[in-house]
Amino acid sequence: MMYDLPLTGRAGRMSPWALAVLCAFCAAVNTAEKCTVPANQQALVTELQHRLESSVALQSPPNPSILIALNLAGAQSSETAKLLVQEIIDRVVQNGTAEMTSGEVALYILALLSSCKDPKHATANINLVEVLKHKTEEELSHLSDSSLAGTTFYQLGLDVLALCLAGADSNEAALSLAREALTKDFFVDTGAMATLALTCVHNGLVKSQQSRILEAINEALDKLQQQILRDLETNSTNIYSLGLALQALNVTPAPYPSGEWSCAQTLAKVLTGISQGAFNNPMAAAQVLPSLVGKTYLSVTGLSCSSDEVTVEYTIINHLRGTYFNYTIRVSVPSGSVLLSILQAAQQKNPQHFSYKTKQTSWGLMVVSINNRAANANDRTYWKFLNGKEPLDQGVESYIPSNNEHIEAIFSTY
Ligand SMILES: *[C@@H]1O[C@H](CO)[C@@H](O)[C@H](O)[C@H]1NC(C)=O
Ligand SMILES: *[C@@H]1O[C@H](CO)[C@@H](O)[C@H](O)[C@H]1NC(C)=O
Ligand SMILES: *[C@@H]1O[C@H](CO)[C@@H](O)[C@H](O)[C@H]1NC(C)=O
Repeated sequence: MMYDLPLTGRAGRMSPWALAVLCAFCAAVNTAEKCTVPANQQALVTELQHRLESSVALQSPPNPSILIALNLAGAQSSETAKLLVQEIIDRVVQNGTAEMTSGEVALYILALLSSCKDPKHATANINLVEVLKHKTEEELSHLSDSSLAGTTFYQLGLDVLALCLAGADSNEAALSLAREALTKDFFVDTGAMATLALTCVHNGLVKSQQSRILEAINEALDKLQQQILRDLETNSTNIYSLGLALQALNVTPAPYPSGEWSCAQTLAKVLTGISQGAFNNPMAAAQVLPSLVGKTYLSVTGLSCSSDEVTVEYTIINHLRGTYFNYTIRVSVPSGSVLLSILQAAQQKNPQHFSYKTKQTSWGLMVVSINNRAANANDRTYWKFLNGKEPLDQGVESYIPSNNEHIEAIFSTY
């Protein structure tokens, strides 16, 4: 059964830029490099995404996991994503939902959410969230009759996740899932999906301060985290499960004990796999892509829903140290996107020239290197961002470029 394999993520005004730059270096001790794909391997990710996009035309029925992956990777307004979302809606209209498993409905809901479509009104008369509630109840009654999942616990995890993200009540289903997680040993995929689902419910409960089931969920999340970590540390995790495992470990509310697991090492394993062709299958690629672009299935509701795009001209200039360069690129991103999306889009389009590196600091995310030219505290160099002539007074995570703006990054000294 296909579901036994997995089917198959701070804003605010910054202080004046110069101060931020200075403090980026003085606070270096407190900074942690995010676990992201190194710039020199970014091309692998871009290629994977392109292959995934080209696979879509050949697939029937439409694959919601691929749509989720493409949307999380920022390809929402691509023709491929538009085509896929239409195919998904068409399929619901033509074939109805009676034959679908609960997990399939859940994936359809996640796919629609990631496309900024309301799954409650997917079609004129089908409310997918109601359908999923009903199918999840069936799963739960099967579970209480037989202590076995109606389909699989992986699907039950998907069900809880989709209900939670769609804003439906998923507390009872989450409680059942948590109890199962505590009494059974889940495979990594199932454990990771359960982690994403329970984290979503956990976050909602914390907000609404409902503690009745919070305890069971916390306990389950702890156990699942330890289990996933153990599987990763003993290298017993199938390479196809690593993407989902990375997603799970990146969302767990409890910090993992430092030193036991290296996110960068797991990521490196995935990248090696990609370069060896292990992820050429579109389903495998769809599974792993979200973790490579720093997203998780929890991000499907947080995507920019504007269909409008802004086009920005982005120039990087180093006429200061080493090999001089002066490159310009035009990229389009959904309107309302922050400057960082421009850097990401430029890197995706032309990784050879527009790679960049960031560092998390107490001032927010700092760009520390562009096109392999790194800022250096001893040398008092940094990357200065300007729009036209004015230096930006916000960081890359906050500044929102407008249409036709010209953003320049100039390697400078302070
Ligand atoms: C619709 O359902 C029929 C059988 O009920 C099936 O043969 C067909 O493949 C389904 N179509 C799609 C797009 O899933
Ligand atoms: C797992 O693999 C890593 C690197 O491939 C290696 O350093 C480590 O010793 C391995 N751990 C076990 C328990 O085999
Ligand atoms: C960079 O190149 C553009 C176009 O080639 C040119 O107009 C501009 O003056 C250059 N900038 C610098 C600082 O040399």
